[in-house]
Amino acid sequence: MGEIFTSKNGELYIENIKATELAERFGTPLHVFSETLIREHIREIRQDFLDKYPGSFAAYAGKAFLPKAMCRLLNEEGLHLDVVSGGELYTAVSAEFPAERITYHGNNKTREELDAAINSGIGRIVIDGLDELGITEKIAANHGRKQPVLFRITPEVSGGAHDHIQTGKRDSKFGIPLDEDILYPLIEQAIKSPHMDFRGLHFHIGSQLHENKPYIEATARALEIIQETHSRFDYIISELIIGGGFGIRYTEGEERMPYSFYLDPVMSQINEFGNNHGLKPPAVGIEPGRSIVGDAGVTLYTVGSVKQIPGSTKYVSIDGGMSDNIRPALYGAKYEAVIANKTDAPAFEKVTICGKLCETGDRIIDDFKLADAERGDILCVFATGAYGYSMANNYNKTPKPAVILVAGENTKEIVRRQSLEAMTADEIL
Ligand code: LLP
Repeated sequence: MGEIFTSKNGELYIENIKATELAERFGTPLHVFSETLIREHIREIRQDFLDKYPGSFAAYAGKAFLPKAMCRLLNEEGLHLDVVSGGELYTAVSAEFPAERITYHGNNKTREELDAAINSGIGRIVIDGLDELGITEKIAANHGRKQPVLFRITPEVSGGAHDHIQTGKRDSKFGIPLDEDILYPLIEQAIKSPHMDFRGLHFHIGSQLHENKPYIEATARALEIIQETHSRFDYIISELIIGGGFGIRYTEGEERMPYSFYLDPVMSQINEFGNNHGLKPPAVGIEPGRSIVGDAGVTLYTVGSVKQIPGSTKYVSIDGGMSDNIRPALYGAKYEAVIANKTDAPAFEKVTICGKLCETGDRIIDDFKLADAERGDILCVFATGAYGYSMANNYNKTPKPAVILVAGENTKEIVRRQSLEAMTADEIL
């Protein structure tokens, strides 16, 4: 559990606060984040990447978890932010995150979204659709802006924990294909456009990667394009964003690798390329999401019905489920958990932890050894910080949980529990 999540006298502590106390004060299900661990991961990025490689930049991938308070924390830490929708942009801008440090992504940005992004003074737009450059040029012209843009390329590299979260394969819906007759005319158009400031290339391979080879392979592809762009158009690409995807530890046997494991080989590859070709190497950007918030967040639930099917499964039901964490149902994602008020009790029994939603696939952990679970116990599921709350939904008219930030003995409610009124506020009778 590390130093952030500790056990004392049979009780789980999150930083210096008892998990059961948080459950009592704020109710369950409850998403709890350790502010200390989030800031610690950002410090690791600074130490392993930003301070080591001048010119480099790191944009937190907002899709992982983006309440306004998170935008404020990122701003305090001086990070950039990657957004992928008008909603994420709106959240960031309304939390006063500086637009010049925002990168806008998406494989099908609407004109309205592009207009809002350019109007906000957004730092970078990553072009993905084949007609998107033309559309973006027109909008930038209307705003009298020379908009910095990059092209998302499909690096034709696979990597990622599940097929649904691989994004770099040739037939991916993301990115511009590498085919010469598609890519280079677009690059030429961007270079020549008076309204576009063509910065360079972007790729994102996939998520929850534990290897560095895919990054090296994809970088090699990008460097070929950088070289080709120089020889065809005498143009020096100044930026390369290599996406996010750095893996975390969800369960025993998985290891969280330091950022340097992924980034050092890529950086030497890029610097070597610069030396070999007499070209100024591009400034490198990364877009970590999961690795900043994933293991910093946990979910607390109250145990309800405990049902032993004779000769078969024992179900421990919790008061949330696929409405606050859809990842097991969607990707077969694995988690670990503990009964927060029984951390000293032996975990002797294999149970299935299921949610309260009306669906058989609504299970958070299958066949997991837990201490004797009883109605009223508080269950803590670890490493739910990334893509848990951000993918929460109202299935079965289940309101979204509250989100709490913990630092030492301090707590801050950063998202209040959705009320039934708020959940149904847009419904017209
Ligand atoms: N940059 C781009 C362009 C991305 O598409 C993503 C994630 C990231 C950065 C951040 O990747 P990370 O460091 O968080 O792995 N809902 C899925 C994950 C989808 C990720 C999509 N893109 C899940 O729950 O596993």
